[in-house]
Amino acid sequence: MDNNCKNLSVTTVNKASELINPLDEALSLEQAVEPCTMVIFGAHGDLTKRKLIPALYSLYSQRLLPDSFCVIGLSRTQMNHDEFRLSMCQAMHEFADDVPIDKDTLAQFANCLYYLPTNFGDNKAFSALSLLIDELKVKHQTRGNNIFYLSTPPSLYIQIVRQLALASLAGTKSGKKTPWPRIIVEKPFGRDLASARLLNQELHQVFAEHQIFRIDHYLGKETVQNIMVLRFANGIFEPLWNRQHIEHVQITNAETIGVEGRGAYYEEAGNLRDVVQNHMLQLVSIIAMEPPVSLDSEDTRDERSKVLKSIRPFDLTKLDQYIVRGQYGPGCIGGQKVPGYRDERNVSAESQTETFSALRLYIDNWRWADVPFYVRSGKRLAKAITEIAIHFRRAPHRLFHNTREGEALDPNVLVLQIQPDEGISLKFATKQPGPTTHLRWLSMDFAYDTAFGTTTPSAYERLLHDCIMGDASLFARTDAVEQAWELITPVLEAWAAGPRLDFPNYSAGSWGPQASDNLIAGDLNAWRHL
Ligand code: BG6
Repeated sequence: MDNNCKNLSVTTVNKASELINPLDEALSLEQAVEPCTMVIFGAHGDLTKRKLIPALYSLYSQRLLPDSFCVIGLSRTQMNHDEFRLSMCQAMHEFADDVPIDKDTLAQFANCLYYLPTNFGDNKAFSALSLLIDELKVKHQTRGNNIFYLSTPPSLYIQIVRQLALASLAGTKSGKKTPWPRIIVEKPFGRDLASARLLNQELHQVFAEHQIFRIDHYLGKETVQNIMVLRFANGIFEPLWNRQHIEHVQITNAETIGVEGRGAYYEEAGNLRDVVQNHMLQLVSIIAMEPPVSLDSEDTRDERSKVLKSIRPFDLTKLDQYIVRGQYGPGCIGGQKVPGYRDERNVSAESQTETFSALRLYIDNWRWADVPFYVRSGKRLAKAITEIAIHFRRAPHRLFHNTREGEALDPNVLVLQIQPDEGISLKFATKQPGPTTHLRWLSMDFAYDTAFGTTTPSAYERLLHDCIMGDASLFARTDAVEQAWELITPVLEAWAAGPRLDFPNYSAGSWGPQASDNLIAGDLNAWRHL
């Protein structure tokens, strides 16, 4: 039915003169940021080149970094400062597609980059880091504030945290406000409940919770943040945002890409650990949370955490009724033949790793009792799209019964499109012009790019900026991480102990296994055709 919808466009209400000038906004934010050094562990890795350096450069070019700022990159590769600078400038040209590059600005930015070849197990290396930090504190006036970014394989996290403590770099759990240390931890944050708890304990030996910033890049996506604004800055949605008016919620996270050379990592992770435990559950928590008391980071995180705590644990005796999994075989995407998962590099020919999962969740609280939240997520699906669709209850009485069969029965659907083509659309019934009454389902669309005429900043840009500002709202707190693992770990254990599945069970380029359709069909619902 959605395919037949005709699009209406909306215009922004603001007059040009009322729009905020981004530079004015940037200048006012700049006054609030404090000087600091960012120390990146794993600085020669993919994440630094593809995401961190482009995000930092973009902030720098918008004057959103403090004037007194520098970066120290650490990894095992032997390089000097100049070679590191050159390598990061090359990475900018190779990977920063969405960031306009100005040659002079990039050269100035590169002057703030430093490098130290480091073996992370070596105490002496951390003394050398300490000396460099002291030197740059004077040279760049960073006042001793440090952000440590863990972008290494997770197996090194605990070692690095301990080394920071030994070198007296982690600093002030004493409660002194300045200088401050902060630590950013990349996902995966543990691989089950026990390992996540251990990592949290280790971090808490050295850092206070407000100094720990666990990155979930989905929380930094512009459209995800807009969910809060849509829900809590408008008066019209919140009265409808509950079990009385919402029949179910569908979250789709479909990727056309495969494991992209990360077969070894993915074999150990699988879809549930890779995206459901973190990104998907964060989306559920934002959609379902209560209005926070304020935008203070603890208030918003309290509300997200309450949602995770209220998700009904899976009934392990009937697991297949609540969660199903799949693995892609060979297929065709965009006219191109693509290999099956088991044919990817570093993947076992008998792999039982899931590349797809579909879940039916219930949130046991007053607002959401008995409203199913369906979540599907997978690689090598038919289309790359992430969206949240809120399906409202149908009109209670079928007044237009003379219309064509089925056409009056559709529900209103509010779609929050996270990517690509970020936007919001609302599907509703109208009368088709003519002497008889025929209904037509239309969609009223808001698209970010046409409304604002700018590209949306990357999630990393927003998250790095927030960390520099000391705002942890968009980062995962200890309790939320552990609650998510508490939900997911029993499933992983049951799957590991259960019989082997007949994988692959979906073709690349399809919408996943038949079991996913059956899961939702059991409630007389169907996945949206995207
Ligand atoms: C990452 C996962 O966290 O998120 C990847 O490790 C996945 O496997 C990616 O592809 C998806 O992120 P995005 O922003 O492209 O939807």
